[in-house]
Amino acid sequence: MDKNQTLNLRRKHIGPSCKIFFSHDPIKIVRAKGQYMYDEKGQRYLDCINNVAHVGHCHPDVVKAGAEQMEQLNTNSRFLHDNLVLFAQKLQATLPERLSVCYFVNSGSEANDLALRLAWQYTNNRDVITLENAYHGHVSSLIDISPYKLQHQSDAPSPDVYRGKYRADHADPATAYADEVKDIIDKAHSKRRKIAAFIAESLQSCGGQVIPPAGYFQQVAKHVRKAGGVFIADEVQVGFGRVGSHFWAFQLQGDDFVPDIVTMGKPIGNGHPMSCVVTTKEVAEAFMSSGMEYFNTFGGNPVSCAIGLAVLDVIEKEDLRGNAVRVGRHLTHLLEKQKEKHLLIGDIRGVGLFVGVELVRDRTKLTPATAEAQEVIYRLKEEHILLSADGPHRNVLKFKPPMCFSVEDADLVVEKIDLILTGTLP
Ligand SMILES: Cc1ncc(COP(=O)(O)O)c(C=O)c1O
Repeated sequence: MDKNQTLNLRRKHIGPSCKIFFSHDPIKIVRAKGQYMYDEKGQRYLDCINNVAHVGHCHPDVVKAGAEQMEQLNTNSRFLHDNLVLFAQKLQATLPERLSVCYFVNSGSEANDLALRLAWQYTNNRDVITLENAYHGHVSSLIDISPYKLQHQSDAPSPDVYRGKYRADHADPATAYADEVKDIIDKAHSKRRKIAAFIAESLQSCGGQVIPPAGYFQQVAKHVRKAGGVFIADEVQVGFGRVGSHFWAFQLQGDDFVPDIVTMGKPIGNGHPMSCVVTTKEVAEAFMSSGMEYFNTFGGNPVSCAIGLAVLDVIEKEDLRGNAVRVGRHLTHLLEKQKEKHLLIGDIRGVGLFVGVELVRDRTKLTPATAEAQEVIYRLKEEHILLSADGPHRNVLKFKPPMCFSVEDADLVVEKIDLILTGTLP
């Protein structure tokens, strides 16, 4: 179909709130492989943003596992099937011992919604604390708690040591930010409200690639648990080895931190819609004690589980965590050099293949360079490189590419950013 025809049909039949990238000249992608996407004319684009195609777009092992299982059987999880239990076992092996019970669902939103239900049932409390600028999903329960869309009183300051309330020059930002959570708890108690949960991404993604100071989660967990609540770590964007050194981003905080509930999504199925909530035996038993069955038509079906197992195998077999460490280090090193050269680059922060580049007009006042960030994104698109800008001011360039992203890919994109910022790109 001609691209304009596709666009016209989309305008006619698809809800206008479903936004499209580069709306003035959208890209029509017809196939993809590894870290590359191809448009209808065969033009190749380097994908620096797709953390869903985690082990690479259309990875043959994942495609084969899904197709073979589809030929055999697909049904709900009310029958015994090896794929379900093997996937749960293999996923558990990546987590601390305590996190041993899985619920398979179909999207990040569903996972977080179920996590809230688990927390409400386990604690018998109701209030949920989130971080400023957070986004946890599109279902009603999450829109209610996601400040990315609406601000609330129970939003704790984002633990951002570059632009946030307590910065790198603060003696102990982890404690200062955790004390803010304690204040919210105290205020809730003074109004006779009780805390069910604190929910945060292990690294804030939509919030602007924020990396919380080490020790912050331990202290928050202590305050929240003392108040009778649980800690929910949202790993929907940042899990499955993206940070390289660890399988889960919450593990960056240290071995002494274990959340009560972990939610997973996007990369788990490499594009196949599936997700998971993992929790402790105690939380799962409390959920059971409500007496209500939990049934999910598609969650944990044999095809999804075959795909999930294949994704875990590829991460291991191709040492994608090792690649994230090596390429991530190379990318941040190149970007640091750009920071020395271009005043517009205020901050480079990242772990593994989760890297943010914050653009500012003034390094002291930190005036967000929002229009400049958009310009970089648009110019890169003209160079057939896909990057996005996020954060509350839309001035943070976000790198979260498929995990097969290479040193050469990093060289190419940073070279183009350099040319754009120097103003010498033809
Ligand atoms: C951190 C985080 N949690 C949850 C979600 C919701 O996931 P989904 O779109 O699969 O429902 C998203 C989606 O962008 C997300 O970024």
